[in-house]
Amino acid sequence: MNEILLMLPGPTTADPRVLQAMGKAVVNHRGDEFGEIYTETTQLMSKTFQTQNDSYILTGSGTSAMEAAVSNLVNRGDKILNIVGGKFGERFADISKMHGIESKALNVEWGTAVTPELVEEALEADEDIKAVTMVHNETSTGVAAPIQEVGEVVKNYDALFIVDTVSSLGGDYVDVDKFHIDACVTGSQKCLAAPPGLAAITFNDDAWAACEKVEDNNYY
Ligand SMILES: Cc1ncc(COP(=O)(O)O)c(C=O)c1O
Repeated sequence: MNEILLMLPGPTTADPRVLQAMGKAVVNHRGDEFGEIYTETTQLMSKTFQTQNDSYILTGSGTSAMEAAVSNLVNRGDKILNIVGGKFGERFADISKMHGIESKALNVEWGTAVTPELVEEALEADEDIKAVTMVHNETSTGVAAPIQEVGEVVKNYDALFIVDTVSSLGGDYVDVDKFHIDACVTGSQKCLAAPPGLAAITFNDDAWAACEKVEDNNYY
């Protein structure tokens, strides 16, 4: 077996059982056998997200789930508050702009975390903000942000709380339901220690209601 130690972040090493399973014969990815595996895996993802919501697995890296969340929850021309304290906070802002959403950046100095008070101030200043994006563990700086405390703030406003837990889920404490997270995304290759190329996402009922009102939904 390959002994390369990946530092992403971690170190993370895929379990030999996972690597051996990948050596099995390819099955029909629209067939019953795969359906059973997919259902079980999504149920395990909901457990890992600590949510009663359904979860979904996307065939794309973590960025694909970031894009799926933003583009399916906020309409073109609407406002989003992107908390930016590093590379991945910036990515949420870039994705928002690419989808024609009006990005309002809440910039914090790289290497520091946003405070709930700053988020409250930004939401008080603009009642048209439809969603807030936040990165839990900003991998580019190593700073873990207070998602639970920010969730307590966002729940008091008519805005969805979208959280990136790509480099924290499975390694740090994330409780989607308790933290009032409406949409949460993660990737396979970090704390979950699986190979890269898959992302997971979960939406609560408020997120699904918003999704139904978005005019140009994507397939993913
Ligand atoms: C916090 C965070 N968000 C998003 C991403 C993007 O994930 P991916 O590289 O799987 O697209 C990363 C990747 O390092 C990340 O650390």
